[in-house]
Amino acid sequence: MTQTAMALNSDAKAAIAEALNQSVAETAVTTMLAQNFHWNVKGMSFGPLHDLFQKIYEDHFVAQDDLAERIRAIDMHAEGTLAGMIKRSKIAEHDGHATDKDMIKIMQDAQETLAATLAGCGELAAKYGDTLTEDLCIARGQTHEKFAWFLRSHLA
Ligand SMILES: [Fe+2]
Repeated sequence: MTQTAMALNSDAKAAIAEALNQSVAETAVTTMLAQNFHWNVKGMSFGPLHDLFQKIYEDHFVAQDDLAERIRAIDMHAEGTLAGMIKRSKIAEHDGHATDKDMIKIMQDAQETLAATLAGCGELAAKYGDTLTEDLCIARGQTHEKFAWFLRSHLA
């Protein structure tokens, strides 16, 4: 049964907030990763890759706000420190010294990890009847799978 944010019990809120905070963290780390690659990419594909990495970080910057604000809508605390996000994230930072092909592969892996994290978050939300969180996670999962496809297609 669909539950409103107000109707969720404290166990549900804690579990959903934990999953959303991991989603925010991985989205934020990937925002930085995409901006890093946008700045440091080199090679004959500079133009399209510079643009693609920009599209990714612009999308992710908006998404981390949407995800964090959903945590607040269920009255839980949104992680707001870079150190905390790095600790929660399964996606690691990178020093930006990589070939264009390696950057594509690293970003593809990040998008696939994000797609899996958001799928898990959506399933958890569904278990508790939190349809609005589930919807948000499904929409984010679709975007990450689209970016994973864009990136994968460069390496075919
Ligand atoms: Fe730029």
